[in-house]
Amino acid sequence: GGAVAGLGAAATVGADALIRSGAERGAGPAGDAAPAAALGTATVPFHGRHQAGIATTPQAHAAFVALELAPQTDRDGIRRLLSVLSDDAARLTQGRPALADSEPELAEVPARLTVTFGFGPELVRRVAPAAAPAWLRPLPAFGIDRLEPAWSGGDLLLQIAADDPFTVAHALRMLLKDARSAAGVRWVQSGFRRAAGSVPAGTTMRNLFGQVDGTVNPQPGDADFDELVWVGADGGWLQHGSGFVLRRIRMDLDRWDRLDRGGREQSVGRHLGNGAPLTGTEEHDEPDFEAKTAIGFPVIPEFSHLRRARSDDPRERIHRRAYNYDAAPAGGAISDSGLLFASFQADVDRQFVPLQRRLDELDLLNEWTTPIGSAVFAIPPGCEEGGFIGETLFD
Ligand code: HEM
Repeated sequence: GGAVAGLGAAATVGADALIRSGAERGAGPAGDAAPAAALGTATVPFHGRHQAGIATTPQAHAAFVALELAPQTDRDGIRRLLSVLSDDAARLTQGRPALADSEPELAEVPARLTVTFGFGPELVRRVAPAAAPAWLRPLPAFGIDRLEPAWSGGDLLLQIAADDPFTVAHALRMLLKDARSAAGVRWVQSGFRRAAGSVPAGTTMRNLFGQVDGTVNPQPGDADFDELVWVGADGGWLQHGSGFVLRRIRMDLDRWDRLDRGGREQSVGRHLGNGAPLTGTEEHDEPDFEAKTAIGFPVIPEFSHLRRARSDDPRERIHRRAYNYDAAPAGGAISDSGLLFASFQADVDRQFVPLQRRLDELDLLNEWTTPIGSAVFAIPPGCEEGGFIGETLFD
C-alpha cells in the first residue's frame, strides 16, 4: 500500500469535501459553486515507497512526455538529470517553485500535481544493462497497429498530471528546461478528463465515444491491487515500481456517428447511459455471459470489447489510467480524437500482452479504433526526501 497512495487519497478526499461543502452552501448568483482555491492548493506527496500518479485518483489533465537522451549523456549525466528533475518535481508538486523557476508565481497552484518518471530501454542500457526487466522493449507487433514513430518509443517518460491544465504547462516547461542539456523532446501527448469538480467524486470517466470507460479496473485498496501493479521483491531495483504502457489510439468519431445506439452498445457489451452490462441495470452489475437472447445469441456478444478484454486468468489484469485527446484535425477531417490508453502493471509481458493479443484477434471496437502510438517504460519505485527517482538503478 504505502504512504503515497494513502496520503494521495487523503488529499483528494480533502478537496472533495471542500467541493461538497461549497455546493451545500449553494451556488452564488454568478453560479460559483465551489471554492476554487480548495482545488488549487490540494497536494499529493511526492516522496514515498511508490511514485505518485499511479494509485493517485486520476487528475483532470495529463501530459505524457517522452525524452530522448542526447548521445553524450552517460551514466553520470543520467544520474545528474534524474537528481535535478526529482528535485523539481518534489518542489512543484508541493506548490513550491523549482530552483531558478522563471515564473515562481505559477508554482503556487499545485492542484494535485504529480510527476511520474518512467525509464525506456535505452536509459536502462546506459546505466545498468543487465538490470532491464525482460518486458522492457517495444510491444510485439499487432495486426491492428498503424504505429507512427512520432508517437512511439522514448528513453525517459514524464507523466505530468494535475487538476489544472495551467499547472501541467508550468511543470512541463520547468522540467524540460532542466532536462535540455541532457535530453530532448521526442513527443508530448496531452489528455483530459472532466474538469475537477464538474462531476461528483468517484464518477467513472467517459471517453469521446461517450462510453463509460474504466468501470472494471483494479483500484487502490482492492485486495490484489498491490500484486497486480507493483513489482515484487524479485524485481531487484524495480521493487515497488511498476510497468507502464502508453498506446495512442485514434477513435474514428465520424464513422462511429453512423452506428446506431444498439450497435454501439453491442460493440462494447455495455449500455451507453450508465455503463451497465447489457445483462444488467447498474454500472457495477456483474455481466452475465451465459444470458441468451430470444433467438439464442449471447446478450453480451462474443465479439464485444467487454467479453474480449476479460481474461479467465485473474492475474492477467491491469490498472488503466487513460486520458482523452482531441487534436486539431487535418486534411478535411473534422476530428483527430482518441484515447491515451495508459496502464500500469507489474509485468507487461504477463499482464498486458495477452490482453492486447486477444483484442487484436477479435474485438468489434477495432472497427472504429486504431493504435497509432506505443511505448513501454519501467516505472522505478519512489524515493525518500534527499533521494532521487531511479537511484536504485545506480546501486
Ligand atoms: C473495458 C473502451 C482499448 C482493456 C472497456 C470498456 C470500455 C472500453 C467502454 C467498458 C467499461 C470498463 O470496464 O471500463 C475502450 C476504448 C478503447 C479501449 C474506446 C480504445 C480506444 C483498450 C485496450 C485495452 C483495454 C487497448 C488493453 C489492451 C480493457 C479492459 C476492460 C476494458 C481490461 C475491462 C474488461 C472487464 O470488464 O473485465 N474498454 N477500450 N481496452 N478495456 Fe477497453
